[in-house]
Amino acid sequence: MSKVTPSAGNNANSNDIYNIVLLVVDIVMLIVKFWIAVVEAAVGLFRPAPLDDVSGKVVLITGTGHGMGKQMALQYAKLGAIILCWDVNEQTNNQTVKEIKSSGGKAFGYVCNVTKREELIELAQKVRKEHGFVHVVVNNAGIMPCHPLLEHTENEIRLMYDINVLSHYWIIQSFLPEMIERNEGSIVALSSCAGLFGLINLVPYCGTKFAVRGYMSALAEELRQKNPQNNVKLTTIYPYMIDTGLCKNPRYRFPKLFKLIPADVAAGSIIEAQRQGLEEAAIPRHFVAVEKIGRLIPRKAMRLVNDFLDTGVDTDKH
Ligand SMILES: NC(=O)c1ccc[n+]([C@@H]2O[C@H](COP(=O)([O-])OP(=O)(O)OC[C@H]3O[C@@H](n4cnc5c(N)ncnc54)[C@H](O)[C@@H]3O)[C@@H](O)[C@H]2O)c1
Ligand SMILES: *[C@@H]1O[C@H](CO)[C@@H](O)[C@H](O)[C@H]1NC(C)=O
Ligand SMILES: *[C@@H]1O[C@H](CO)[C@@H](O)[C@H](O)[C@H]1NC(C)=O
Repeated sequence: MSKVTPSAGNNANSNDIYNIVLLVVDIVMLIVKFWIAVVEAAVGLFRPAPLDDVSGKVVLITGTGHGMGKQMALQYAKLGAIILCWDVNEQTNNQTVKEIKSSGGKAFGYVCNVTKREELIELAQKVRKEHGFVHVVVNNAGIMPCHPLLEHTENEIRLMYDINVLSHYWIIQSFLPEMIERNEGSIVALSSCAGLFGLINLVPYCGTKFAVRGYMSALAEELRQKNPQNNVKLTTIYPYMIDTGLCKNPRYRFPKLFKLIPADVAAGSIIEAQRQGLEEAAIPRHFVAVEKIGRLIPRKAMRLVNDFLDTGVDTDKH
C-alpha cells in the first residue's frame, strides 16, 4: 500500500495536466462552435428554412370549431393533410369538417372537452388506432376571460389553466412517446403576446400563456439532451390580437399600426412556422425581437413607451 502512494501522487499530477488540456480543448471547441452557430443564425435570418411537406400526414388540432383552429384545419387540409378536429362544440366542429370535405379534403371530427384528462387519453388511443401516427399536434384551444384579477372567480381561473395549460400536458404525454420512438413529428403550442408581455385585465391569462412558453422551452431542452440528434420539432406561437372574437374589447391608440390580424392570415403564419420547424414565432414575426429588445430597456423607460402606445384589452365586464 505504502509503495503506491508516490506513484499515486504522480498520477494525480499527470491527471491534472490531462484535465487542463481537456478543459482547454473544450473551451476552444465551445468558442469555435459558438461562433459557427451565431453565423448560421445570422445567415438563417435572410434564408428562410425550407417547408416540411405535410401532404398525407395526420394533423391533430384542438379548438377547430372556430377562429385560428378552424382556419388552420382548412389550410392544412388544402395542403393535403388528414385533419383530426377536436372541439367541445359539436355543431361548429361538424361545420369545419363539412367545409373541408366539401372542398375535397380529408377531416374527422371528435367532440371533446380538453379539461377531461381521461377522455383525452382515451380519445388519443382511439385516433391512433383509426389513423396511425399523428405527425403534427397543435394545442390551440384556449379561453380568455378578461378583467381585473380581483374580479376573476376561482372557477374561471382554474378552467383557464385546465384548458390553456394542463390539457397540453395530457395531449403531449399521449402523442410524444411515438414521436420520440420514430424521431419525427411536430408539436405546436399557442402562447400569445400575453406570454411575452404582462398585460392588464389578463393576469391569469398571462400566467397561462407564460406557462406555455416555459414548458415548451423546457421540453425542447429535455428532448435535445436526451437525444442530440432529436428531430421532434417544438414550435411556440405568440400571436398579437387576432380577429376571432376571443379578444372582445381591444384598445389601441394607433389602429393602423396595431390593427387586428385576420384569423386566416394568422393560421397561415402558424402553419408556415410549423413547417419550417421554427422554435418560436410571433404573429407578426418581429414581435419576438421586440420583446428581446424591450427586456434590455430599463422598465421605467419601457413603461413610458407602453403608456404612449396605449394598446391592450379592456375589461369584458362592462
Ligand atoms: N384571438 C387572439 O387575439 C389570440 C391572441 C393570442 C393568442 N391566442 C390563442 O390562440 C388560441 C386560439 O384562439 P382563437 O382566438 O382562435 O379562439 P376562438 O375562441 O376563436 O376558438 C377557440 C375554439 O376552442 C374551443 N374550445 C374552447 N374550450 C374548449 C375546451 N374546453 N375543449 C375543447 N375545445 C375548446 C372553442 O369551442 C372554439 O371552437 C387560444 O389558445 C388563444 O388563447 C388568441
Ligand atoms: C355531428 O356529426 C356527427 C357525425 O356526422 C353526427 O353524428 C352528429 O349528430 C352531428 N352533430 C351535430 C350537433 O350536428
Ligand atoms: C368543460 O369541462 C369543464 C369541467 O371540467 C366545465 O367547467 C366546462 O364548462 C366544460 N366546457 C364546456 C364548453 O362544456
